[in-house]
Formats: sequence, C-alpha cells, structure tokens
Amino acid sequence: MTRTAILGLGHYVPSKVVTNDDLAKLFDTSDEWIQQRTGIKERRYIEDSGTGPSDLAVPAVKMACENAGIDVSEVDAIIFATLSPDHDFPGSGCFLGDKLGLAGVPALDVRNQCSGFLYGLQVADAWIRCRMYKRVALVGGEVHSTGLDFSDEGRDVTVLFGDGAACAILGPSDDDDRGVIDVEVHADGSGAKELWIEGPTSANVPRITHEMIDDKTVFPAMNGRHVFRWATTKMPEVSQSVLERNGVSVEDLDLVVPHQANKRINELVTKKLGVAPEKVVHNIQKYGNTTAASIPLALSEAVQEGRAKKGDLILMPAFGSGFTWGAALVRL
Ligand code: UT7
Repeated sequence: MTRTAILGLGHYVPSKVVTNDDLAKLFDTSDEWIQQRTGIKERRYIEDSGTGPSDLAVPAVKMACENAGIDVSEVDAIIFATLSPDHDFPGSGCFLGDKLGLAGVPALDVRNQCSGFLYGLQVADAWIRCRMYKRVALVGGEVHSTGLDFSDEGRDVTVLFGDGAACAILGPSDDDDRGVIDVEVHADGSGAKELWIEGPTSANVPRITHEMIDDKTVFPAMNGRHVFRWATTKMPEVSQSVLERNGVSVEDLDLVVPHQANKRINELVTKKLGVAPEKVVHNIQKYGNTTAASIPLALSEAVQEGRAKKGDLILMPAFGSGFTWGAALVRL
C-alpha cells in the first residue's frame, strides 16, 4: 500500500519581534505572568498592513519545496489550514495558489483551528494513498496580530498568539518504513463558545454592527481554565489511542511535536503519557501560539536544527477551538 511521506518542510515568521515587555506597555500584564503561565517570551507580528497568511505562506512553501527537492510548479494540490484567513472568502489556498503561480491547482481551506494541520494531514494522506495527487502542499498560516484586543479586557487571549506560517510537502513514499502511519481527529461543538469569535456572524441581521465593535465581540474570547482542562485530558487520550492502535510504546517515540498553545499544557500532557522531557519540542517561547502553523513550524525548525532526523518516529498531538483535537504518528 502506498504510504504518504513528508518530503520537505518549510516555515516563515515575520521579522517584527514583540516581547512580553512590549505588551506590558499596552495593557496590564507582565513578563513574569506570561512566562510563568504560558512559557512565552516573545512572538512575531506582521510588519505592515496588507500582509495576510497567504503572504506568509509563500516563503514557507518555497522552503518546503526546496527541502523536498521539487520545483513549486510540481505542487498539484494545496491544503491551507487557518483560523485567520486573508478574507472570509475566497479561501486563503486560492490566494496562495495565485501568488505561487499555480493556476488550476486545486486549493482546499481547512477551518479547524489549532488542529487544522492534523485535519489537513488526514485529508492529504487519503488523497495520496488513493493516488489522487502526488505533491500536496499542506500549509498552516495565521495572522493573529490584526485581530487581538490590546486592552486589559483582552489580555488573557492577546498575550498567547503570534503570526507565522509553515508547510509540509507530502507525496507518495517509495520507502515502506517511512511516512504517515496514522492520524486520528475529533470534534465536540458543545465547547464551541469556550474559545471563539462571536461576531461578525452570518446569523445576525445585519451581519456586522457598530455594537459588535463597541461590545468587543469581534475579538476572540476564551474560557482559559476550561480549555486548559480539556486540552490536558484530550491530548493524552487521543495520543494513547493512536499509539495503542499502532502497537507503539512511548519509549519507541523519538520526538513529540505538540501544538504550541501553552508550555504548561505540553509539559502536563507529555508527563501524563510518560514521555521523557528531552523528547518534547517546545518553541512557544519564541513564537507564541501560531495555531494551524504551530506543529509544522515546530517540526520544520526541529529538522533544520538537526533535532528531528529522517527515520524518527514522531507523535504530534493538538487541541483547540471547536473543540477540535487529534494526534498524528509519523515516521519522518
Ligand atoms: O490553542 C488552543 C487553545 N488555547 C489554550 O489551550 C489556552 C488554554 N488556557 C491557558 O493556557 C490558560 O488558562 C491561560 C494561560 C490562558 C491563563 O492561565 P491560568 O493559569 O488559567 O490563569 P487564569 O485565567 O485562571 O487567571 C489567573 C489570573 C486572573 O486574575 P485573578 O482573577 O486571579 O485576579 C486573571 O485575570 O491572571 C489574570 N490574568 C492575567 N494577568 C496578567 C489573565 N490574563 C493575564 C495576563 N496578564 N495576560
């Protein structure tokens, strides 16, 4: 049976570094609080108006193609995972395809927030295994910084998020031992309003009102403790399920590359699973939570730094808004 391999990885973050102290000048927070509760030291924001997630994705895709040893023109399908699309419609994948000169190449947007990369991986894996496409660019890209509440009221959410993009080029593997072994994903919409943006909404007449801006329902809202509890329950549960189904023990894992939402969450999750701390990749200290981009960004960096190598067995769990969650097991 054809397996799907990660042929190459790439990432891109904007150059503007925003430290915790920078945020403490804008609203009531502190470097100490943010580092203690989340592990974040700084994040990246876009420099200028007019830079969307599809713009951040262009260099990420180019780097991934280079690392995969293919030309960008060989990409035959795009999957773009994002919760902050360039526009409500059309999808960011269409904008990206145009920017890459990929006219006619199908582009699918995935709206599954922090689990978006895993949902996209499951789709890409099925496409490749049934020989529908040969070179899928699976992208996670976010521009959060333009949609955050930089006041005391929004501080719990605003300190967490950063901008960035990353890409995995996926294709059929000629090596039976290499590739995507399993991806399991879930959703439970009963938690939808625990981490969401209420407005604008197509259910409202009219869709956008001045009150939405005045009442700040246009900013993300989160019940942090509730999300924390779910994340630290569901990420170990789904990881265990994937490991057991594939007869893999925690000791067999070379690396765990979790979604980067909170360093404390990932420490707790991997402790519950019994993973040695040195096998867990954290880069939240540099980028904050880049949502759909966070797993491929951490994996791409780990490869660049020589920490993740060909043949490594890697577990990638995620949890986020929806609620959505999942885990992937991959042999790099
Ligand atoms: O990407 C996937 C989804 N997101 C997550 O997975 C996030 C999950 N949740 C979390 O990571 C944590 O709940 C947070 C980091 C968001 C918050 O940490 P916490 O330990 O749960 O803090 P808390 O919400 O219980 O708040 C503790 C205190 C509160 O003050 P009082 O009521 O004790 O006086 C907050 O008002 O910290 C206050 N607080 C802040 N203080 C300084 C909340 N945000 C901030 C802030 N700076 N940025």
